[in-house]
Formats: sequence, structure tokens, C-alpha cells
Amino acid sequence: MNTEDFNDKVILITGAAGGFGRLLVERFANAGSKLVLSDQILESLDDFAEPFRNRGCDIVTQRCDVSIEADVRSLVETAVARYGRLDIAINNAGMSSPMKSLIDTEEADLDINFAVNTKGVFFGLKYQIRQMLTQSEGGTILNVASMAGLGGAPKLTAYCAAKHAVVGISKTAALEYAKHNIRVNAICPYFSPTPLVTDGMDESMQGLLAKGSPMKRLGAPDEIVAAMVMMVAPENSYLNGQAIAVDGGASAR
Ligand SMILES: NC(=O)c1ccc[n+]([C@@H]2O[C@H](COP(=O)([O-])OP(=O)(O)OC[C@H]3O[C@@H](n4cnc5c(N)ncnc54)[C@H](O)[C@@H]3O)[C@@H](O)[C@H]2O)c1
Repeated sequence: MNTEDFNDKVILITGAAGGFGRLLVERFANAGSKLVLSDQILESLDDFAEPFRNRGCDIVTQRCDVSIEADVRSLVETAVARYGRLDIAINNAGMSSPMKSLIDTEEADLDINFAVNTKGVFFGLKYQIRQMLTQSEGGTILNVASMAGLGGAPKLTAYCAAKHAVVGISKTAALEYAKHNIRVNAICPYFSPTPLVTDGMDESMQGLLAKGSPMKRLGAPDEIVAAMVMMVAPENSYLNGQAIAVDGGASAR
């Protein structure tokens, strides 16, 4: 990563207290970005952000439940009030309900997955793009989908459906706003041992998933985050409307 590219850039991240979120914050804080960080629970995010603030990093934190439109709108307003613009947004917040077969999946599983994983991204795009349309330089948005947004994911029906929707919404937004210099892409990672995976799956399940990967291992969170940073880097200014798998080759089969 060319850290100079991100110096002074205003970057908004949802789910910033999570596994990928914290690694993103570290990279961008070290690069001199101005950060707007949010998560559904503010306390752990503030604890995490404190050492960066103490080092002089410019960070604003705000509680934001991405399934609530007013929260997402307010988050973008905070970015603009504080910094006057929004250069990059990473809609990273997400959740997964416990693994279960399709015939045991309840309507409530679909509701929560769509509320957080799909509507959370949609609300983000709506207000981030409205702001970016006011900026002559446009902006860049990355939505965190999943490999489950590109293909079937046994025992993850609700998550898989919600992440497929993220890919569709991302591509649609990319086409609608490309002429305004707004880039929208989605990243589609394979399983990676963040709390989303380690809290929801025992080690034998993680071992099975590692075995099923062409590289015979899960992706390290840092490897996924490296690809996220690449996708939002200003030098990748022609990368638009893509759903990129970062999966050790799994989707090449
Ligand atoms: N880890 C993986 O294997 C993997 C694979 C593919 C995609 N993803 C996606 O990556 C993204 C980041 O997940 P992670 O792996 O870092 O997991 P994580 O559980 O460590 O982080 C997710 C973060 O999102 C926050 N969040 C959950 N619901 C929220 C809501 N309603 N509003 C605001 N914040 C909310 C959580 O508090 C948490 O901090 C998610 O969208 C996830 O679906 C993860």
C-alpha cells in the first residue's frame, strides 16, 4: 500500500470494531487518513481508537446500527460536519446467524440477515453517494459481501441470499454513478478467522473449511484487508462495478 495515497483522505468505516474493521483502522490511521468509525456498540470501538487518538490520529467515532436508516444517514452527516467531505466509505458491518439447513431456516433468519447485511449496505450507499455527488472529485465505496455472495453456501441460506443482494446492489450503484466519478465495488472473501467465524464455528468446522480451500487454509484477516485497501486505493481509479473474490482460488473451480 502506498500510504501517501491515503494521507488526509476522509474514510468512513462501518463495523470498525470487528476483525476486518480494526485492521482497516490500523492501516488507514498509520497512513494519515481522517477516520469516521462506527459500530453498533461504541465502547469497544472507543477503547480501540484511543491509542491512535493519543498518537495524534484524526478520528471521530459514532454508534451506528447499520440496519437503521437514520443512524447511517447521521453517520455520513457527521463525516461531512467534521471534515467537509467523504472520500472513501467501506460498508463492512455484517453478521451471520447460526449455520442451519435450508429447511430449518426461519423467516427471522432472513429478516435479520437482510436488515443488517443488505439494508445496511443499501443505506450506506444511499447517503454516501448523495454526499459524493456534491464533490467534483466523486468518491470510492467498497461493500463487504462474501464468497457466499457469488455462489451457494450450504447451511448459510439467509446469509448467502443477503450477500448476493449486496453484490447486485453494488453493481447497480456502480453503473448508475460511474459518470460522476463514484466507484463502487464489492469484496467477496472466503472464511477468515475473525470473531464472526471463531465465535460461530468450532475448530473442527474451521478445519473442514480450511481443507476445502485450494490453499488448504483459511484467509488471514490481514490478507483480506490488504485486498480491501487495494480496491479503494486512488491509483485503482478504473476498478469499478466488480465483485472480487479473495478466496485462495476457491471460486476458480
Ligand atoms: N470473516 C469472514 O470469514 C468473512 C467472510 C466473508 C465476508 N465477511 C464479512 O466481512 C465483514 C466484517 O466481518 P468480520 O469478519 O470482521 O466479523 P466481525 O464479527 O469481527 O465484525 C463485524 C462487525 O460488524 C458489527 N456489526 C454487526 N451488526 C451490526 C449492525 N447492525 N450495525 C453496525 N455494526 C454491526 C459488529 O459489531 C462487528 O464489530 C462482514 O460484512 C462479514 O459478513 C467476513
